[in-house]
Amino acid sequence: MGMNLQWYPGHMTKARRAMEDSIKLVDVIVEIRDARLPYSSANPDLAAMGKGKKRILVLNKADLADPRETEKWMAHFRTQELIPLTMDARKRGDCAEILRQLNELAAEKKAKDLKRGIKNRPARLMIAGIPNVGKSTLINSLAGRASAKTGDKPGVTRGLQWIRLNASLELLDTPGILWPRFEDVTVGLKLALMGAIREEVLPVEELALEGMKLLQERYPQALADKYGVSGDVSPAALTELAEKQGLLQKGAEPDTARAAARFLDDLKKGKLGRITLESPAAEEE
Ligand code: G4P
Repeated sequence: MGMNLQWYPGHMTKARRAMEDSIKLVDVIVEIRDARLPYSSANPDLAAMGKGKKRILVLNKADLADPRETEKWMAHFRTQELIPLTMDARKRGDCAEILRQLNELAAEKKAKDLKRGIKNRPARLMIAGIPNVGKSTLINSLAGRASAKTGDKPGVTRGLQWIRLNASLELLDTPGILWPRFEDVTVGLKLALMGAIREEVLPVEELALEGMKLLQERYPQALADKYGVSGDVSPAALTELAEKQGLLQKGAEPDTARAAARFLDDLKKGKLGRITLESPAAEEE
């Protein structure tokens, strides 16, 4: 699959090493996932790498996800050894809630250090996740400035810098950019549909058809409501969509490539409704 290109083994080894080096330095890992894909947007090795560290799990882009599904996922994650939160990283209030949780963890650490007679230093945290889940947006918001880099490449070693958030918290300047699961074709498909990976997993029209099928299974009304197309997702679905949307080529032929692009864009931007592509019962971790 195309997504393997970005994460060839050498690259993964470097990213893992950078991650392990950073993890040693922090007390708290804030892992970000896409709320529309709480399973598929996870890094398969982070839990093991971060063993013994406090972990906050943020389901970001919750504004685009199905609220009922998000609640199911939250219930699922509350049974695990982590602090689950939902977020729209572009909202100040949501980021403030993350900060409140972090301050609480820092206070716990301080109390523990005092009890042990250890000289207290600020709690250190890092933000980690696969590409495009909102790491930079959260870092920018927490740091209150626009200088945190976006579009970082994975596995690039840099000097570590800390951003002081307040007297008791320090944030690692650079997010940990992690690799997604590779072994499962469906995971790659879902990540491509949500815009989490840029490489082509499938040709656009094929991707759109797979996306329509997935959507139809989980939200049987969505396509009919948005486009007025019939429920069947066959290759003719793109022709029907092109006709309904008035996407025609010269000679009034339906333009299925543009129909596919239109669907994929609408899906990503939430114009087909708030959707979540997987549920906890089916995707046990
Ligand atoms: P990253 O560092 O993990 O790679 O992600 P980054 O913060 O760059 O965010 C990726 C895109 O997702 C950005 O859009 C950002 O505005 C958007 N985003 C982040 N958090 C949220 C959220 O909670 N809700 C919504 N709806 N969007 C969010 P962008 O710069 O426009 O990139 P793109 O959309 O063109 O890919």
